[in-house]
Amino acid sequence: MRELASHVWPRGAERGGAGELMLGGVDVRDLAQEFGTPLFVLDEADVRSRARAFRDAYADAGASWVFYAAKAFLSVAVARWVHEEGLGIDVASGGELAVAMRAGVPGEALLMHGNNKSMAEVQMAVEYGVGRIVIDSFEEIARVAEAAAQAGVVQQVLVRATVGVEAHTHEYIATAHEDQKFGLSASGGAVEEAVRRIAKLPSLTLVGLHSHIGSQIFDAAGFEVAAARVVALAQRIYDEQGIEIEELNLGGGMGIAYLDSDDPLDVQEMAGQIGDIVAKACAEYGITAPRLAFEPGRAIVGPAGVTLYEVGTIKPVELDHGQVRTYVSVDGGMSDNIRTALYGADYTITLASRVSEAEPMLCRVVGKHCESGDVVVRDAWLPGDLAPGDLLAVAATGAYCRSMASNYNYLPRPAVVAVADGGAREIVRRETVEDLLGLDVAT
Ligand code: LLP
Repeated sequence: MRELASHVWPRGAERGGAGELMLGGVDVRDLAQEFGTPLFVLDEADVRSRARAFRDAYADAGASWVFYAAKAFLSVAVARWVHEEGLGIDVASGGELAVAMRAGVPGEALLMHGNNKSMAEVQMAVEYGVGRIVIDSFEEIARVAEAAAQAGVVQQVLVRATVGVEAHTHEYIATAHEDQKFGLSASGGAVEEAVRRIAKLPSLTLVGLHSHIGSQIFDAAGFEVAAARVVALAQRIYDEQGIEIEELNLGGGMGIAYLDSDDPLDVQEMAGQIGDIVAKACAEYGITAPRLAFEPGRAIVGPAGVTLYEVGTIKPVELDHGQVRTYVSVDGGMSDNIRTALYGADYTITLASRVSEAEPMLCRVVGKHCESGDVVVRDAWLPGDLAPGDLLAVAATGAYCRSMASNYNYLPRPAVVAVADGGAREIVRRETVEDLLGLDVAT
């Protein structure tokens, strides 16, 4: 229970002499004291080193850009860290774009996604000089063309192709079509038609194709099928329209370890395999190998983040057959981590404020919301002497936790604190009830 598996916890995580968890050289008891709980703690050196690892590994594999997928978690500080480490940023809304702009990330390092970008969002992107807008529908071709014409610029675009491959962890499903809202079908002629329309519009220039097959992917098998289909599509476009696809963006989705038993391919290995896969597909279809681009989100911030909670109540509940389930309630829950309730996600949790020699007990760690599905960790082994006031730490919560947080039950969303070299600084402050009341304008 005390051990911190190095592939699950941030790289700077260790135990101090009293069993306390140290993150980036900082005692989490001090963090809880100073910033309160629940608290998101992000190890800056870890984020930076993962960003660098992605940049280097994917550059070796033929990528000219690695865009950090901001939806995983974005703040001004994080935008600066990843950009300083050589990454661009993939934004999927005007709000995410505004954060990247405030961080001073230049337009050429940005790429914009979204299946229903508003005209205002498109204009904001075009006016800021966002390097690439990913076209997701026919309506959008006209909208982006109009915004670019109005701004007097030629906007670079990619067309998002759905290739009938859905990947998750080590499984993937390949079909002819994909029944989902993103992109245009690679098999029904829609992408070719989009390319034809874009070529006729003087305010647009096509730089390439885009394909994203899913999230939390552990191996390259899904990418192999997707790359073959998108390369075949590039060849058809070249044959029929004489247009060369210069850039291939294969999206994100590289998985991380939430549990000790999770074993995703390491960055270098995954990058190498994907690079080889694309090279092989291009040789097979006889097209010039395009520049590659990728959009990892989770794999950059996920493992670098930890959530700290304080234990509030401990309740043994008698089940049938005389068994007892111990419910441990913490001071957050589904408002700061919806992933357990939404996806049945599993997390690693540990006692973070002290050492305990007590026998482990199997318990369910739950939040404080008015809902029985408000579970943080469904089955957790924690010391039998766990008590109110103890601090618990949940690993690998850097991605899709704060960014998907809500104010359910009017809970203010937690702060995000960056730790580095033994110091801590707040990068997103905790919301207050006043912040929430400020939105209610009824008199
Ligand atoms: N590019 C595109 C076009 C995407 O849609 C996504 C994620 C990414 C890149 C980044 O994927 P990543 O490398 O982070 O897996 N809320 C879910 C994940 C949703 C992912 C949506 N798109 C979760 O918590 O597991």
